[in-house]
Amino acid sequence: MKTVIKQLTEAFGPSGYETEVTELIKTMVEEHVDEIRTDVLGNLIAVKKGAEDGKTIMFAAHTDEIGLVVTHIDDKGFLRFSNVGGVGIATLVGNRVRFANGTVGVIYQEKDPWKELTLDKLYIDIGAESKEEALEKVKVGEFGIFHREFEDLGNRLIAKAMDDRVGCAVLIEALKRVKNPKNTLCFVFTTQEEVGLRGARTAAYGIEPDLGIALDVTLTGDMPEARRMDVSLGKGAAIKVKDSSLIAHPRVKELLVNIAEEKQIPYQMEVLEFGGTDAGAIHLTKAGIPSGTISIPTRYIHSPSEMVDIRDVEACINLVAALADRDLGDI
Ligand code: CO
Ligand code: ZN
Repeated sequence: MKTVIKQLTEAFGPSGYETEVTELIKTMVEEHVDEIRTDVLGNLIAVKKGAEDGKTIMFAAHTDEIGLVVTHIDDKGFLRFSNVGGVGIATLVGNRVRFANGTVGVIYQEKDPWKELTLDKLYIDIGAESKEEALEKVKVGEFGIFHREFEDLGNRLIAKAMDDRVGCAVLIEALKRVKNPKNTLCFVFTTQEEVGLRGARTAAYGIEPDLGIALDVTLTGDMPEARRMDVSLGKGAAIKVKDSSLIAHPRVKELLVNIAEEKQIPYQMEVLEFGGTDAGAIHLTKAGIPSGTISIPTRYIHSPSEMVDIRDVEACINLVAALADRDLGDI
């Protein structure tokens, strides 16, 4: 499990350029599913057929990660950039960027470091001594990601892009464990979530599921002087009540709580004051799809060092696997 999380989080996949991640996932899951395909937006859709009288559940975890895009290269070879998704500016100075071809650079700030931090005062230094030298490595319009390795601290793990490769890992492990499920399961590894839940929108339209469940990270309130929030690392799967993209369908929320209670899966209720997930796009598809979210509690989201607890990951896998086999009645 930790190896899968390491491989996924270290892969390159800024929004719109997720192919390395989806290809990697394909190799991990193809022998465990009945069908596998990729759609126009790059979503990887892996299907496990259920019983005749089962429903269709769409599980979504996004493959893209936040990053940046080169907007300008100056005469001395320094790059200027814009954000791809919700990049935390405070986490950038001194951090490293990696481009698709392996070029690495350091992000720094003009004039006094740590003062008046805005994106337009930051630049990337890829070690080039001239514009010509820089252009041999990177072009305007290229996307980069944070360059960080996975770290195993025991129960707790740190990596870039835990958002949402840890959600992908939950789905991969659940689909391996579930044999002959009651419901038809569409595991969708979505694209472009970080720029507006875009992949999930077209995938849900194409699948038209009876139930939509997103797997994604959520904030916690358990660090020093943290924003008040009743979610902690190590206390179980978080069952979403609401965020700014979705009010979980009451029946879906109750279903998840009931399953967790019955199977004694540790869980906590999540009220996220801002942010959203793929379920925000799924539930508004066609005439509406009952949807909810299972969240993996995560510290330092959208920084290059996002932290999760492996026990929460395990709880999320158990919840997904139990739901896959559940008689959904007339949900
Ligand atoms: Co995110
Ligand atoms: Zn996410």
